Amino acid sequence: MSAPVVAAASLRAEHLSREYPSGEGRVLALAPFTHTFPSGLTAVVGPSGSGKSTLLNLLAGFDRPTTGQVWVGGTDLTALSEAQRADFRLAHYGFVFQNHNLVGILSAQENVEFPLTLAGVPPRERQARARELLAQVGLENRAGHLPSQLSGGEAQRVAIARALAGNPAVLLADEPTGNLDTRTGERILALLQGAAGAGRTVVLITHDRDIAARADHHLSVLDGVVTPA
Ligand SMILES: Nc1ncnc2c1ncn2[C@@H]1O[C@H](COP(=O)(O)OP(=O)(O)OP(=O)(O)O)[C@@H](O)[C@H]1O
Ligand SMILES: [Mg+2]
Repeated sequence: MSAPVVAAASLRAEHLSREYPSGEGRVLALAPFTHTFPSGLTAVVGPSGSGKSTLLNLLAGFDRPTTGQVWVGGTDLTALSEAQRADFRLAHYGFVFQNHNLVGILSAQENVEFPLTLAGVPPRERQARARELLAQVGLENRAGHLPSQLSGGEAQRVAIARALAGNPAVLLADEPTGNLDTRTGERILALLQGAAGAGRTVVLITHDRDIAARADHHLSVLDGVVTPA
């Protein structure tokens, strides 16, 4: 879906690890991990508490690693300041979370436009782009609805449209189908597969084995250790 990605950027974790303080000691939430994420859809599976969100938050630069780097193309995300990381994310990343995280007081259309507004895209251009994206996720007739007026699956489709608004090279999704019934989850998967098919690197955390099985690439996480599955 969406326009072809112009500059596909490779996503690479290099000796990436994260410890958290825990009482007197420390817990190794992610053991040192080195991996180049291929373009296409990578599913990350593993039990609750295994370190999946820790990994995703590091790849996103939301969290800082204890050791290692995250490379997106030639940029080391971990060497950037917080403000630089925010700008970098806006330009290169899209995110989809379990709870859609749409802005409650903005319509579906305005939510999709939001990252483009932040990026300084002129109104006419961003309105047209948001309309196009809403049509791609099958919601052109819900553009004026507030998030509270959308079903869970519809809200998640708006969130995907928003994530793709800036045509990001990297799309990160943490349990995007977790709250949805199987059929709606399938629809979300199809949108992510479409996004991956356009040359993006899509990383999908999921508990759903059926959904994971249909990804192009697989990683599994157990007690902070990530291995190809
Ligand atoms: N901010 C934090 N401070 C301390 N420990 C943390 C923090 N965030 C996560 N942890 C710990 O790190 C480990 C991995 O957590 P993480 O959230 O990555 O798991 P997960 O695989 O995403 O689980 P789930 O499937 O339940 O979402 C857990 O033991 C968790 O308790
Ligand atoms: Mg998690």
